[in-house]
Amino acid sequence: MGNTFLNLALLIIFHFSMPTFSMKLTTILTDQSALLALKDHVIHDPENVLTTNWSASSPVCNWFGVSCGSRHRRVTALDLTGLGLVGTLPPHLGNLSFLSLLYITNNSFYGRLPAQLSNLHRLKYLSFGNNYFGGEIPSWLGSLIELRRLFLYQNNFKGVIPFSLGYLSKLEFLTLFENRISGSIPSSIFNISTLQNIYLSYNMLSGSIPSGPHELLSLELIDFSSNNLSGHIPKDMFDHLPNLKELYLSVNLLSGRIPASLFKCKELQMLSLSYNQMEGSLPIEIGNLSMLQYIYIGRNHFEGKIPKQIGNLTLLVDFDCSYSNFTGEYIRKN
Ligand SMILES: *[C@@H]1O[C@H](CO)[C@@H](O)[C@H](O)[C@H]1NC(C)=O
Ligand SMILES: *[C@@H]1O[C@H](CO)[C@@H](O)[C@H](O)[C@H]1NC(C)=O
Ligand SMILES: *[C@@H]1O[C@H](CO)[C@@H](O)[C@H](O)[C@H]1NC(C)=O
Ligand SMILES: *[C@@H]1O[C@H](CO)[C@@H](O)[C@H](O)[C@H]1NC(C)=O
Ligand SMILES: *[C@@H]1O[C@H](CO)[C@@H](O)[C@H](O)[C@H]1NC(C)=O
Ligand SMILES: *[C@@H]1O[C@H](CO)[C@@H](O)[C@H](O)[C@H]1NC(C)=O
Ligand SMILES: *[C@@H]1O[C@H](CO)[C@@H](O)[C@H](O)[C@H]1NC(C)=O
Ligand SMILES: *[C@@H]1O[C@H](CO)[C@@H](O)[C@H](O)[C@H]1NC(C)=O
Repeated sequence: MGNTFLNLALLIIFHFSMPTFSMKLTTILTDQSALLALKDHVIHDPENVLTTNWSASSPVCNWFGVSCGSRHRRVTALDLTGLGLVGTLPPHLGNLSFLSLLYITNNSFYGRLPAQLSNLHRLKYLSFGNNYFGGEIPSWLGSLIELRRLFLYQNNFKGVIPFSLGYLSKLEFLTLFENRISGSIPSSIFNISTLQNIYLSYNMLSGSIPSGPHELLSLELIDFSSNNLSGHIPKDMFDHLPNLKELYLSVNLLSGRIPASLFKCKELQMLSLSYNQMEGSLPIEIGNLSMLQYIYIGRNHFEGKIPKQIGNLTLLVDFDCSYSNFTGEYIRKN
């Protein structure tokens, strides 16, 4: 009788306390089993790094590519860059709840990104660059609000750029080049005031460039080249980008004139507009952008005289206006 009562009591205690217990009681063992699950999902490890080094007999924090926090001794960084690994990512990686850096760059991982990665709300640095990941770019990436760097370049991602990426209010680098991304560029991207570099080149983006960027004081590089962008460059595009240094819009279907707001970008070093369908003249204000080193505007329908003010640009290294209807010549002053 007493025994039965005790058993019942224990059962009740277990029943009601287990769920909370198992949620709170994640330890370095949770991290270890997540990493061992990753090891299990790797089908080729040419340098035998995981095979020999990720052994349960040595502490997880000493494993190759793994870093732990000094206080809590939980896994805070996982960097497996360039190990030639082939495999998929297991959902268990979503249990590495202290992770702030996850770099899988330069390997041969494939498949989709597991949705459980959306639990990694401490992530600041995330790179899946140069792998064979596919499927859509998940919209849950927009919930990783601590992200500073998001690298998805050189993969097989398709579909559209999720609007939710605009919620990443601390993002500095957004690098999506060389995928199969289509649709238009969401206006939300230009809402990220911390943005420094945005690379969307070599995709299949279409539609026009979103207009009216907010004040983006940190933005230094925009690369939208080699897509299918069309329409005019928005008139106000450069109104609030005072620190823009590099602009790549070449190899698209852009039409219309060079907007006057471009000449507010006093720091501009690289202007690349070649292989579009732009028209009109090259304004004399080009001579005011004294930091310019490269001007590539060939293969458009520009016409008129090449402004002699270009000769004022003492830092200019290369000026290409071939296959246009310009008259006059470019005389370099030294
Ligand atoms: C695993 O790699 C780390 C870092 O290179 C090294 O310090 C450690 O000794 C290695 N451990 C084993 C068991 O090979
Ligand atoms: C970790 O994640 C996997 C899959 O998402 C799950 O099955 C497992 O129970 C989780 N918890 C621990 C403590 O490993
Ligand atoms: C990835 O590999 C390429 C080509 O080998 C190399 O140029 C690049 O620096 C590597 N990236 C990283 C982050 O190691
Ligand atoms: C930009 O951010 C503001 C303020 O946070 C918000 O009200 C607005 O809806 C956002 N616009 C876009 C296009 O994301
Ligand atoms: C770009 O647009 C053109 C015309 O609309 C279309 O024929 C072509 O397939 C598109 N290319 C890409 C890469 O989407
Ligand atoms: C461009 O420079 C010229 C003379 O160098 C100056 O008169 C003009 O105001 C400048 N324009 C702008 C838009 O800064
Ligand atoms: C140059 O002008 C001629 C005559 O207007 C036109 O036929 C031709 O397409 C133009 N070339 C370019 C590259 O815009
Ligand atoms: C730029 O060039 C023009 C014409 O060559 C000249 O009149 C002007 O003074 C120059 N401006 C500057 C700021 O050097």
